[in-house]
Amino acid sequence: MSRIAYVNGRYVPMRDAKVHVEDRGYQFADAVYEVCEVRAGRLIDERRHLERLKRSLGEMRIAMPVTPRALGVVLREVVARNRIGYGLVYLQIGRGVARRDPAFPFPEVTPSLVVTARPLNITKNEALAAKGLAVVSVPDNRWGRVDIKTVGLLPNVLARQAAIDRGARDAWFVDKDGYVTEAASSNAWIVTADGKLVTRQADHAILRGITRMVTFEVSKAQGIIVEERGFTLEEAYAAREAFVTSATQIVMPVVSIDGHVLGDGKPGTVATALRRAFHNFAETA
Ligand code: PDD
Repeated sequence: MSRIAYVNGRYVPMRDAKVHVEDRGYQFADAVYEVCEVRAGRLIDERRHLERLKRSLGEMRIAMPVTPRALGVVLREVVARNRIGYGLVYLQIGRGVARRDPAFPFPEVTPSLVVTARPLNITKNEALAAKGLAVVSVPDNRWGRVDIKTVGLLPNVLARQAAIDRGARDAWFVDKDGYVTEAASSNAWIVTADGKLVTRQADHAILRGITRMVTFEVSKAQGIIVEERGFTLEEAYAAREAFVTSATQIVMPVVSIDGHVLGDGKPGTVATALRRAFHNFAETA
């Protein structure tokens, strides 16, 4: 079965899913995106992802090309046409196509909308969660507004590859003051010796993860205290546990940071319990 994408109003086979060479997303990363998990063919936390999308678009002064309702229909249609049971749906909205000039096109052009979906391997993901990730730290050299979910992800690309080159799976960004901001495509958390969760406050230096928000709710229900604050690498090396959160990884245990093994080197009980309970708190639509 050929994969189907939605591109500016049409459902097309992947091989025909093309954008213009003067698409500003392509030339300037002048576009935003969202990724939702799909389970049993249903969207997870769609409402919160679309709220964040609206915020990103507002910060970028890009108009929403379709109504949120229509967007919901397209997302479901792409999931259905690709017969996704477990997987992800990706959407990207860009400022549109115009002759190359950094200033916003005037008169305005129609924003572009692309939606794709793909299956994920649940067995592989669960095996990974049972083993945990090794991460390495890298300097956070991103721009100052990573709270906007733009497709400008070059530092993230290089960080992930640096991690792989160093025999790890993921990278944790560290700001110039020595505090961990987040991971290359997820939020970073530690569990302190006294059992508290710590994750960076949602300022302009991290993406306000939807999974992060839901994890606050899960933690509350489990009676776990969460501190939203920066933590240093030294604190992370000494942590009882660590994990990352994202729509595609949910709560993914981290078992080593820069070669410092956490606890007994196995996924911790807190991360594992949060992962298990997660979908009781996430919204399915
Ligand atoms: N990434 N931080 C960064 C830099 C991210 O790219 C992501 C998500 C997150 C977690 O956000 P959420 O919980 O809303 O997925 C944090 C997506 C999954 C991606 O780029 O594929």
